[in-house]
Amino acid sequence: MGGKPINDFEKDRFLVIGHRGAAGLRPENTLASFERALELGVDAVELDVRQVEDTLLVFHDERLERTTNGRGRLADTPLSVLRGLDAGGGERIPTLDEVADLVGERAWINIELKERGIAAAVARFLRARPALRSLVSSFDHGELERLRSLHPEVPVAPLFETAGSATALLRTARRLDAWSVNVSRAGATPALLAAMRDEGMRALVYTVNRPEEARSLQAAGASGVFTDRPDRIVGAVGPP
Ligand code: G3P
Ligand code: MG
Repeated sequence: MGGKPINDFEKDRFLVIGHRGAAGLRPENTLASFERALELGVDAVELDVRQVEDTLLVFHDERLERTTNGRGRLADTPLSVLRGLDAGGGERIPTLDEVADLVGERAWINIELKERGIAAAVARFLRARPALRSLVSSFDHGELERLRSLHPEVPVAPLFETAGSATALLRTARRLDAWSVNVSRAGATPALLAAMRDEGMRALVYTVNRPEEARSLQAAGASGVFTDRPDRIVGAVGPP
């Protein structure tokens, strides 16, 4: 995806992307989860990024309760406390650096910006790691635009939660010079996927945990899926 040029193999491959690592098999967004996804042969891992005290942390929610033994808001909690929490199975909340060290060149990393105002820190992070293959996504399309202005070579993908018109999606994607549009299962109708394919725009669909659904999305024109269960999906989708 990024860092180095996209080669033809990657460009045409139907992607299996481990959602928060392998969130259906290990505690989400932990090193154990990313390691499991890599062992299972995903093409990429997706992770969620927030910033605390100038450190980029891999964490989905605004609050701590659902996935850790802590309480309160992530943003209100000192980094030293956050790093001592149990994020499941004795795992810690990892930094983006720790995940990048683990993944290295074994797969791509899809960095999802979960907060406004972190584009500059993510751009700095990516510049410091030119060998990392990355795709940066966000529901906050303005934040993606800022990232592009700071680091124009980074591939980006606007996220869409609800089904919008293909025309609106494409307008956003073209404005960002996007590598893909990342759409929810609900939004990924056959008509939308066909429209993206006809316009030469990749569509990646989240979150798909059943092999038959992954196969039918592939047949309808999707370019890849995010999954909590790479054990079920890797190997179940065919070559393009
Ligand atoms: O990037 C795909 C997906 O992760 C977006 O939604 O809530 O799981 O971060 P969410
Ligand atoms: Mg995400």
